[in-house]
Amino acid sequence: MKLLENIGREFSGYNLLESAKRLVDRKPLQCSLYVTDRCNLDCSYCTEYDNSQPHPSLDDLKKWVRKIRDLGTMRIALVGGEPLTHPHIVELVRYCRDLGFATSLTTNGFLLTRSRLKELEEAGLQVMQISVDRMTPSPITKKTFKTILPKLDFFKDSKISLHITGVLCQDTLPESTAVLETGLARGIPTEVRLVHADPKSFYRVQRGSPEALKNFIEWMIQRKQNGEKIHTNKSVLDYQLSLLNGTPTEWTCMAGYKLFFVSAQGKFWECSMVKTEKHIMDITPDDLFANYRKKPCQAGCGVYCAVSTSLLVENPAKVIGQEIVARAKRVPGVMREAFTSPRVRGTDEDPAGAQRMNGSRYCAPPAKRHEPIVSRAERKAAA
Ligand SMILES: C[S@@+](CC[C@H](N)C(=O)[O-])C[C@H]1O[C@@H](n2cnc3c(N)ncnc32)[C@H](O)[C@@H]1O
Ligand code: SF4
Ligand code: SF4
Repeated sequence: MKLLENIGREFSGYNLLESAKRLVDRKPLQCSLYVTDRCNLDCSYCTEYDNSQPHPSLDDLKKWVRKIRDLGTMRIALVGGEPLTHPHIVELVRYCRDLGFATSLTTNGFLLTRSRLKELEEAGLQVMQISVDRMTPSPITKKTFKTILPKLDFFKDSKISLHITGVLCQDTLPESTAVLETGLARGIPTEVRLVHADPKSFYRVQRGSPEALKNFIEWMIQRKQNGEKIHTNKSVLDYQLSLLNGTPTEWTCMAGYKLFFVSAQGKFWECSMVKTEKHIMDITPDDLFANYRKKPCQAGCGVYCAVSTSLLVENPAKVIGQEIVARAKRVPGVMREAFTSPRVRGTDEDPAGAQRMNGSRYCAPPAKRHEPIVSRAERKAAA
């Protein structure tokens, strides 16, 4: 029974199954709601926080959330700024769940405590993304496993499904492999995403050598195809590679339609980069549908959630098919786990040991079996 349950879990996840309903209608799949502009950190690549702004009130947030639901939106992603700085974040999560939203929250994790996680779980939060860029802090980013590793234990018996996402740039690249290995070795879906393009030089970071970034993304693609828990679909990994190669991907941006953003002032934004002065309370289904069009800003777009949703809506068979194939490769590991004596967990053969995370319970192969990063030049030479 446990085995069947575990195999079922490999194929579950609201990302794929619940999304299906929104692939055939005109309603939005997801809204990212900025629950606050305020943040307790200052990542050098970030333009998404502003400590001069007060937190929006819980009443306003609830009003916007009701409207977002009335538009037919299925999922809500609570973002910011740093959502855990908002004093009413737990009440807001409970309200979103009461309205029937699939609810996730993205956090830098600094304010996460065992009791706060428990409160969020009891409020019904389903998914938490913790952002981890490096193993140790740097002048660019403080979001590191140094802070987060001791907190992973909070998730041991939690129903909240955890995944980890890092930003890939020159500063983080030397530690990105270790970030990925650290997450995967604990059975946590993990990904590292290319820093957004920065044509207006707003960020205080260097993107890094395209060749080194390409090698890293190709390596993630290999790992994904081996069935490991890289927390993004292959289409988005391919898309990042195409950005670095300068080879355009054919797609139609669904931002403002299948997914949209609401600012911490209640403004309707097509995405985190394309902002409007319209208020969410004035938006109609026709306004959303009018955004179903190719956008002038598509070339080089780094809003990966928009790319991911757009590619999914455009070609669900391809995106879901690739994901099913990747997840199917995990089933032998799940079966091995079911028949493995708990006494051998935590050994060198099974480094996740007792720290295996919920919702991501099944460990990737141990680190020593992972394929090393091999550059394209080396692969060509070997061939
Ligand atoms: C704006 S943050 C808000 C939530 C929270 N403060 C955090 O850092 O997780 C949401 C996500 O966007 C990522 N992000 C911010 N600026 C970025 C950029 N220039 N390029 C790529 N990702 C970025 C962050 O690392 C984080 O994973
Ligand atoms: S923690 Fe999040 S919101 Fe704050 S500066 Fe970093 S990326 Fe931006
Ligand atoms: S192409 Fe990218 S930047 Fe432009 S609206 Fe779509 S998601 Fe936003």
